[in-house]
Amino acid sequence: MPPLSGNNPSVAMADTTLSVAELTSDSLTAQRIVVLDFGSQTAQLIARRVREQNVYCQILRHDIAADRIAELNPKGIILSGGPSSVYVDGAPKCDPKLFELGIPVLGICYGMQLVCAALGGKVDNTPSREYGRANCTIRNNESLFRDLNGDIEVWMSHGDQISSVSEVFEPLAQTSTCPYAAIAHRTLPIFGMQFHPEVTHTPQGGQILKNFVIDICGCEGTWQLGDFAQAAIDHVRQLVGDRRVICGLSGGVDSSVVAALLYKAIGPQLSCILIDNGLLRKDEQAMVIREFGDHFKTDLHVVDAEEQFMATLEGISEPQEKRRRIGYAFIDCFKAEATKIKDAHFLAQGTLYPDVIESGADPDGPAATIKLHHNVGGLPDELGFELIEPLRDLFKDEVRQLGLELGLPESLVWRHPFPGPGLAVRCLGEVTREKLQVLREADSIVVEEIINAGLYRETSQSFAVLLPVQSVGVMGDARTYDNAIAIRSVKTDDFMTADWSRLPYDLLARMSTRIINEVAGINRVCYDISSKPPATIEWE
Ligand code: XMP
Repeated sequence: MPPLSGNNPSVAMADTTLSVAELTSDSLTAQRIVVLDFGSQTAQLIARRVREQNVYCQILRHDIAADRIAELNPKGIILSGGPSSVYVDGAPKCDPKLFELGIPVLGICYGMQLVCAALGGKVDNTPSREYGRANCTIRNNESLFRDLNGDIEVWMSHGDQISSVSEVFEPLAQTSTCPYAAIAHRTLPIFGMQFHPEVTHTPQGGQILKNFVIDICGCEGTWQLGDFAQAAIDHVRQLVGDRRVICGLSGGVDSSVVAALLYKAIGPQLSCILIDNGLLRKDEQAMVIREFGDHFKTDLHVVDAEEQFMATLEGISEPQEKRRRIGYAFIDCFKAEATKIKDAHFLAQGTLYPDVIESGADPDGPAATIKLHHNVGGLPDELGFELIEPLRDLFKDEVRQLGLELGLPESLVWRHPFPGPGLAVRCLGEVTREKLQVLREADSIVVEEIINAGLYRETSQSFAVLLPVQSVGVMGDARTYDNAIAIRSVKTDDFMTADWSRLPYDLLARMSTRIINEVAGINRVCYDISSKPPATIEWE
């Protein structure tokens, strides 16, 4: 898979940004595992799998100095996979001193090849790239493979592999084409595996990671979201004192969870701002006001900013430029409203860990972006607020769990995510009010039918996309030359990878019939059957 790449467009985080790692008491995050990211598509997945063992896990840049790692004092270090070859010039390397820290190390795929290149082993290009399922025979089940016996199914994805290792390593497992599928150093707590334990295609991968994290690294597995929520609430309360916090509310899960957390911490000192940018889904503004009113009793400011957003998007069809302009318009509107709120000192945002990682906002973290996520880096320093981002160490599924812990209703917690730039990234090409109206209607039919079929929770995101193509059709006796709608429905755990939902044909037929009959301007409906990667979930 190609490496993630791109420039970091985000505004630097204010120094005052609170990370939950800093918010929570030392005891909750003291037992951390760090993942060094060598450009892997699955580095975040590794971190999530580790957290499933109730162990806090953080992703760091691959070239972080061993001294800095020592300061962070992790219980274990995982070296991720990556698209490079260890023997080519410029290949990403880690600080070799990390092997001398005495902290257990697990190298996965490229990470394993780095271990061998550093400590005694030969890495060769294999005649054929190995990609897919393989049968792996375990030769030693005392450490990494404890409680696993015989053959296990594993997922391979590599061009290079280890062809020989020095005496310092003991082979732990092999496949028919890969003699060193897993190895252990004979005297140091250093391990490597050529396959990927973090992906679901390695069914016993969770057990292998557990063996590493709990048995080998000695983590106790005590990191819990409930404790975490209480610690975050206590810290926010302490930090804010009697000052006021502003929170941007979008109706999405993330901002709702932030608001709920802040509300628990500081109650009436919270003011929320909802910017209706004209890019929201059908009836969304009313729904947010209703739901918000049901669950919080704080000061809510609704800003009707459709005009401003439409003006800035006029004539713009390039996706990143659309995102950029929406980001700036959002900042302008937010700023105008925020300055009306007296005595506001803090600004809260629902930034999540993947945003932080991909934007390069964490100086210790890896920097890679595919798309601009305008909520990272957020509002500029000139606004003069201190930032509070209580979710910036959490993955999406953890945020939902936290929402439930905080008492938010399931309907809100399980709402499909909706991107900050809203319908603009689903209205391909130039955005106009007319196109948005068509898209909004089609989208509401897609979601309504998914809910009626009882598939809302089963799918992770389901929506309509308005395509900038016209095609010929026939309605009644008349020829039509109208637009097409694509239905997108995906299933994913982490939104980093996703598979298209296998929706029943009858459901697709109902959606198609309803959209063509009920939405003027549409004469064709397609179903998007691409997975991520190589496609993304959104079309822009
Ligand atoms: P992609 O399209 O990158 O989307 O596969 C992954 C997830 O991120 C959401 N998304 C965004 N969210 N601002 C956001 O707040 C954005 O610019 C943005 N772009 C994509 C997308 O809806 C999906 O859940």
